[in-house]
Amino acid sequence: MNYKKELSQQLFTILEGQLEAGELERLIEKPKHQDYGDLAFPCFTLAKTMRKSPNVIAQELSQKIKSPLFEKIEVVGAYLNFFLNKSKVSEQIISEILTQKDQFGAQDIGANRNVTIDMSSPNIAKPFSMGHLRSTVIGNALAKISEKCGYKPIKINHLGDWGTQFGKLITAYKLWGDAEKVKLNPIKELLTLYIKFHDEAENNPSLVDEGRGWFKKLEDGDKEALELWQWFRDESLKEFSRIYELMNVQFDSFNGEAFYNDKMDRVVQLLEEKELLVESDQAQVVELTEIELPPCLIKKSDGATLYATRDLAAAIYRKENYDFNLSLYVVGHEQSLHFKQLIAVLGKMGYEWSEKMVHVPFGMMLKDGKKMSTRKGKVVLLEEVLTESISMARHNIEEKNPNLANKDEVAKQVGVGAVMFHDLKNYRMNDIEFSLEEMLRFEGETGPYVQYTYARACSILRKAQWQPESGMPANHLTWDQEWKVVSLLLEFSNTIKRAFDNLDPSQVAKYIVDLAQAFNKYYGEVKILEENEEQQARLALVYSVTVVLKEGLRLLGIEAPEEM
Ligand code: ARG
Repeated sequence: MNYKKELSQQLFTILEGQLEAGELERLIEKPKHQDYGDLAFPCFTLAKTMRKSPNVIAQELSQKIKSPLFEKIEVVGAYLNFFLNKSKVSEQIISEILTQKDQFGAQDIGANRNVTIDMSSPNIAKPFSMGHLRSTVIGNALAKISEKCGYKPIKINHLGDWGTQFGKLITAYKLWGDAEKVKLNPIKELLTLYIKFHDEAENNPSLVDEGRGWFKKLEDGDKEALELWQWFRDESLKEFSRIYELMNVQFDSFNGEAFYNDKMDRVVQLLEEKELLVESDQAQVVELTEIELPPCLIKKSDGATLYATRDLAAAIYRKENYDFNLSLYVVGHEQSLHFKQLIAVLGKMGYEWSEKMVHVPFGMMLKDGKKMSTRKGKVVLLEEVLTESISMARHNIEEKNPNLANKDEVAKQVGVGAVMFHDLKNYRMNDIEFSLEEMLRFEGETGPYVQYTYARACSILRKAQWQPESGMPANHLTWDQEWKVVSLLLEFSNTIKRAFDNLDPSQVAKYIVDLAQAFNKYYGEVKILEENEEQQARLALVYSVTVVLKEGLRLLGIEAPEEM
């Protein structure tokens, strides 16, 4: 049920095509204050086409609109304010939720077409950074939101598993490495070796040459080099997998940069055929002066290919293999130039689908107002953050609900959910201040607050022994006290669509906080468990709230325990 659509259709018929239905729908507003009704339509745009004063148009329209959905239409200046018929609308939306359950809010914008989502993409032998956490969490939510909108998401982990740093790492390992240590604690050990390489190289420049040599061997397929590389990759992935398991995130592909090694000659050849490659400082580049971008580096003087070359190959591969309708890259905003160049080069190559590629940038995670960096120990290790958060959640449960049955499971759902929600509630471009205490608070705009509200609503239903099969009961309510909650339920679909259109999961996060707050207020004002004529309808509303809170959390990749 979509009232905006319904109203815009009516206006369209009355206006006999003065404006398109879609345009009319865009003009419909939601008044800031409920005194001005539930929907508002400003007549200024029509005034231009109809050559009449907007106030007169508003008057005329108010006489012509007839719908049982509205109990009142008020004219205020150039505005038409519509007041929905509370009981009709409430009954309708709750019945819809009762029948559709977790399908409520689903839409078919995508028509089952593919969206590839390049997300997470950490670098082998380096710690999983906060940036990778943000990419994982935002990418995962966008996958679920696009799926809810009828697309088929394909989640790709474009691992950073190739590049000159592997030459350095092999050199360091051969000089100072210890296989046992690496097996015990792969990323920590490999990072130590990598840092040592840089420290030592400051006094011993020949190390750099050696590193370059090993990378060359790697590119030429030398057996020893490849075996070491494969081993580093496997061990790193094992560690990353633990994090993905904690967060319950899965991927459709782990094809990282190395996967494109044998696919780059073709890219270079295509660029040559299209006469796009030029020489600059002994390197091969594609000039982008006409759009005022620096040239895109394709091949270095020693013939080595680069990050951008691999991304070109990857984009073409994805188009050919997944025939995407949309291709998202969830990567920090510091790589904006790279993605502008990438898309521009593909455009110059004549690929119209390059317009369907979108860089989805995000801001930084800060600690005490400063950037967290992976270099020189200033890292907050993500796995530690997650385990710390889980143990704090566990501690909370011990204090508040020591008899809970599956404490470990719930602690994981709450602890991990808290970290994810803290990220997703912010518009992605904002920098976020990292704070475990903040994340785990039970009040305010937090994951645990929404989960807690969900669990509370579930417990009401349990106490009343209410089942969705009871259906929508005979209506004895005026729905006045319920209206704030109901009007939010009405907004769920639109919120999901907006989140998809703007590639912005925070729309969903903010929405479920609003719904949780409205519900808690309602719960404080109304005795839901009191048996009376109105109780069944109220319980149906409580159930509807559980459905939407749970589904909202799910769209963010967060689980909803029924008790906590
Ligand atoms: N591994 C890169 C990094 O950590 C991110 C890769 C993003 N994806 C891509 N297709 N370039 O900075």
